[in-house]
Amino acid sequence: MQTMIWQGDYLELLNQTKLPTAVEYIKCDNYQIVGEAIKKLEVRGAPAIGAAAAFGFVLGARQSAKQGKDAFWDSLLVVDRELRETRPTAVNLFWALDRMMNITKNSFHKMNVEALLNLLEKEAIDIFKEDKAINIALGKHGATLFTEPTAVLTHCNAGALATVAMGTALGVIRQAYADGNITRVFADETRPLLQGARLTAFELLQDQIPVTLITDNMAGWVMKNKMVSAVVVGADRITANGDVANKIGTYSVAVLAKEHGIPFYVAAPSSTFDFTLKTGDEIPIEQRNKREVTHIYDVQIAPLEVDVFNPAFDVTPHRFINGIITEHGVLRNDYTESIQKLKEKLKR
Ligand code: MRU
Repeated sequence: MQTMIWQGDYLELLNQTKLPTAVEYIKCDNYQIVGEAIKKLEVRGAPAIGAAAAFGFVLGARQSAKQGKDAFWDSLLVVDRELRETRPTAVNLFWALDRMMNITKNSFHKMNVEALLNLLEKEAIDIFKEDKAINIALGKHGATLFTEPTAVLTHCNAGALATVAMGTALGVIRQAYADGNITRVFADETRPLLQGARLTAFELLQDQIPVTLITDNMAGWVMKNKMVSAVVVGADRITANGDVANKIGTYSVAVLAKEHGIPFYVAAPSSTFDFTLKTGDEIPIEQRNKREVTHIYDVQIAPLEVDVFNPAFDVTPHRFINGIITEHGVLRNDYTESIQKLKEKLKR
């Protein structure tokens, strides 16, 4: 199932808030619809957010071009700003928009708007295609960590639905399963928005990979009873020292894994690294609407007047992480050193 389809004139986004009960695509023929889809988590997962924002930028540039060359630049700055304001934590959003802005800055004075629009479309398609190749490479590197049949636990959804291809954490799991080294996946349901229950369970069932759904508070007991022997999760932002922001609840899973002597791996493309931040303390954590906690869908489950804390992400300190799987290989501690080497390789 494709997370997004670029139709040349518009972007189709699989509406992930409707899964698993309905498969519906949203037609985005302007950047505002793309921005709203990112905000509402209709498209979600760090790499998918980045790719969707790049296509949103193309649509926004086309809308800006209709206002004439003089107004184009100022209008495009508004497009860029509004897309950047959709979600604060996943750095892939800013990485993709930086790529789009760099093309614009480098080419604006050298060509007519029509030619620039074509270049921007090409860049967005490149981001989309690269993500697919990255998923495959990352999956292969990650699968080398599994040399015997293993049951694993994952949190949230870092699968095909969070990317444009086979996924990051689920890409590793898919490859290791194909190699005969995954016996079962335990999927945390991932409150409050249930990405594990709605999306990961759905994706793995579609691929006929054995999956057991658990509520988040069962992970410790599953580990204590030796029902899993590894954890693989995705990431939304990784800082220069190897600290990892990912879906709220990831930190608790990492602490539990350490207590039970279970390796905890993070799988992420290089676009998820933020080399400008030294530690995870600097990562902006998205706070979301209290209704996501007081309700499940439209059903109220808590008193409306209760005070709610609803951070969408947490940060796992690097000391809990046994390896960070990227498309360039598996990084190990000392992360400051291995991430610096990755940065040099990428020339970013
Ligand atoms: O709020 P979400 O659903 O966008 O959060 C997604 C996650 O936390 C994923 O684990 C992360 O983006 C990695 S996706 C390959």
